[in-house]
Amino acid sequence: MRSDRRIRMGILGSGKGSNMESIVEGCSAGSIPAEPVIVLSDVADAPILERARSYGIRAEYIEPGEFRTKLSPEIEGTYVEALKNAQVDYVVLAGFMRVLKNVFISAFPQRIINIHPSLLPAFPGLAAWKQALDYGVKYTGCTVHFVDEGVDSGPILGQEVVPVMPDDTHETLHGRIQAAEHRLYPAVITALARKKVVVEGRRVRFSYDA
Ligand code: GRF
Repeated sequence: MRSDRRIRMGILGSGKGSNMESIVEGCSAGSIPAEPVIVLSDVADAPILERARSYGIRAEYIEPGEFRTKLSPEIEGTYVEALKNAQVDYVVLAGFMRVLKNVFISAFPQRIINIHPSLLPAFPGLAAWKQALDYGVKYTGCTVHFVDEGVDSGPILGQEVVPVMPDDTHETLHGRIQAAEHRLYPAVITALARKKVVVEGRRVRFSYDA
């Protein structure tokens, strides 16, 4: 992707939207050369929608259908249509609690990114901070990765390490990881906007355009 271009982002979330907010704040401040053009949620009363609207961003609930952890192919098509109509370059998952499947992923090849609250491939899946604390690791963190059809399994774009303290609870560790997420996601999106991304198998590197 060429330097000095503002990438157009569609942001998807099911929850409170603190990552969305850190990204939007960075875009407004000019530190992230990107523009959030639409926010979509599968949860009608998710705080992320109201939070997005408070920044003047178009924010819509799209009914998720019959499944609990994924969307049907038809409903994936509805999400894709909304994102294509908004002419997004990248789809940014910020706490979207459903696994994306083929219709969605093939519509945006290497253009869907996610943030996960552990150092992948350790602790994929739900409540990764709890998994890490209960396992007894001394360091965990967060990971931004491309989305493929697996669970938290795509090629890794960036990671930040977070220490686990002896007196941590699930809540204090989660809070420290979220603070790291709010640094890492803006940094990775900035790199995607400014640099060329080269994917070789599972390995991802950034290089400046010649
Ligand atoms: C984050 O912890 C992220 O790692 C996970 O979902 C959470 C979303 O939090 N994928 P928020 O809605 O951005 O506050």
